[in-house]
Order: sequence, then structure tokens, then C-alpha cells
Amino acid sequence: MSTYQRATVTGPGLRLHLNENTAGCSPAVLSAIAALTPDQIGSYPDYSRAIDATAAWFNVPRDGVLLINGLDEGLHLASASASRRQPGFRGVVLEPAFEMYGVCIEESGGTIVRVAPWPNFAFSMDDVLAASEDATLIYLTDPNNPTGLGLPAGAVEALAAARPQATIVVDEAYADFSGRSLIGALRDDTSGRLRNVIVGRTFAKGHGLAALRIGALIARPETLAPLAQLQAPYSLNVAAIVGLEAALSDQRWLVSCVEESRASKEALYDFCTRHGLTFWRSEANFVLINVGVEASALVAALADQGIFIRDRSSAPGCAGCVRITAGLLAHTATCLRAMEAFYASRNR
Ligand SMILES: Cc1ncc(COP(=O)(O)O)c(C=O)c1O
Repeated sequence: MSTYQRATVTGPGLRLHLNENTAGCSPAVLSAIAALTPDQIGSYPDYSRAIDATAAWFNVPRDGVLLINGLDEGLHLASASASRRQPGFRGVVLEPAFEMYGVCIEESGGTIVRVAPWPNFAFSMDDVLAASEDATLIYLTDPNNPTGLGLPAGAVEALAAARPQATIVVDEAYADFSGRSLIGALRDDTSGRLRNVIVGRTFAKGHGLAALRIGALIARPETLAPLAQLQAPYSLNVAAIVGLEAALSDQRWLVSCVEESRASKEALYDFCTRHGLTFWRSEANFVLINVGVEASALVAALADQGIFIRDRSSAPGCAGCVRITAGLLAHTATCLRAMEAFYASRNR
């Protein structure tokens, strides 16, 4: 049984703690859901059009796409499949990491092999190679949560070649914000050098569909097949299916969210610079900031005002760090005003 608890806040408030899209979703998504018929809701969903739309979106063949009930489901399927192949398998996690990787490995009866962070979260291929010698599964994240930092160019390709026995999941939950993806390399991979690589995407972040629970795994069909076998039939619901099609048809929405997030990140960086706080320039829709010993006091003071940011100070390498979602500029400004007041009260 997992002890993992997702940080959630119910009720009103400014949610800047879960890297959600604070602009919500495109109005086209709402129209598509409102247009659902009783028949559509009364029938098990047909994914074919959504698979076509997703394949076209990523410019990959449709048999290279597996739609999933949120990327969390894809991460679980990868661990479950590794366990089938190698009971008690070793799964590698590069810290600091999205907590679900460890949860998925443990729930599938595997052993977590953690790669400790270097200063400034520098990527160490030597460390990953040492940890993955007899691994069945490796979770990578590009850009990473909670740091917002990208993987070095060529790292996945080198690892895929060095560890052919392992499945490498490249979690690209935030790729809409980085504008980078391994999917192009997968598409061009005629020689099969990336046959052990699976790219994971979610439509929760850039497209704002977090509550619909929908994502996709992209890989060679033979690499996806063992995971697809483990997925429950009709794992995705019809609202997610039609919502995704509508979201993908409104590219302007995505572009505007990404632009607004970029402006919000700049506002957060400016604040940090003015206050002498260490931060990491992020390729995602959030910023990790080292506020030092004030971390829990700051998080609590903001929560008292209904502004929720995430205390990441217990994550490896993240002592003193908070993570703040960079969504709509107005939301970021509200958060920064509250942070300004917090620091002003400390300096009195
Ligand atoms: C790195 C990473 N992967 C996966 C997910 C989960 O995505 P989904 O909401 O589609 O399950 C998240 C959510 O925050 C994440 O940060």
C-alpha cells in the first residue's frame, strides 16, 4: 500500500502548488463536453478519433500512441510491465523527482534505486549508468519536476544504447513549456536505437485538462504493446476523449498559456533577484526558489491568505525550496504581492 499523498487543496483559493494550468482549459473543451449526447454517455467510449488527433498532434503513426488516464496511469503501466518482465525489478529514479515514480515502482513490487542529486542538480551520466547496471526501468523527466531543468542533449540516446535491457520512460509532462521533445527523434528512429524508450505526455498542463485525466505514451508499437495489455479496457472516459479532441483543435489557447507562463516566470525571477533568492531558470510552468529557513513559514503565511504554493524543502537537494506555479500573470502578481508583504513583515 502506498503512503503517497498528493498535495491537494479543496475549496476556493489560488492553487499554485500543483503545476496546474491556472487559466483552465480552452472554451472549445467546454463546448465539446456540453455537446455530448445521452447515447455517447450511455456507451463505452470509442477512442479512435482521439487517437487519430493525438497521432496527428505529435506527428507519429497511430499505432505509436497509447492514450492513458493521465500520465500517472502511464507511469504505473511502465512499472507494472517491468514487474511482469522481471519480478522484483530495479527501477531507477533521479532525485529530486516526481514522487509517483517511486510509488509506481514500489506498488509493482520493485526496488527503487535512487540517484542522488549533484549541486545545482547537474546531470551525471556516470551516476545514472552506475545505478542502472541491472535495472529494468529508468524514469527520466524533461524538464524535471521540481527543478524545471532539462536533460542534457543526447543523454537519453546514450542511456538507451548503454542500457538496452531497461525500458526508459522519458516523462515530458512539461514539454509544452520547454518546446523540446524526444518525439522527433523517436519518429526518425529507423534503426531502432530508441526501441527501449517511451515518451510520456500529459494534457493536464499546457492544455489545462488536469481534471479530465488524459495523457499519451509515444513509442514504437512493439514497445507500447506490453503496457497496453495491462491497461483496463475503457480506462479513459468520454468527456476526456471529446475534450482532448477539442483542446488539440485550439492551438492558440496552448500558445497563449505558454506565453503567459513565460511572463509569469520572468516576474518570479525578478522578485527573486530583488530579494537575493536563489532560483533555477525553469523550462516548465513553475519555478523552484530557495527561500532558506523561511520555507515553511512562507508557505503557511500564504496559505492563510488562500494562496497555495508547494514546500519542496524535504525533497533531496531541495532544502529551503518552494515551488510556485507560473500560470496567469494576474495570479503570479497576487502571489508576489503576498510574498512581498511576508518579507516586509520579516524585515521590520
Ligand atoms: C513530472 C510529472 N509527470 C506526470 C505528472 C502527472 O500527470 P497527470 O496529471 O497527467 O497524471 C505530473 C503532475 O504533476 C508531473 O509533474
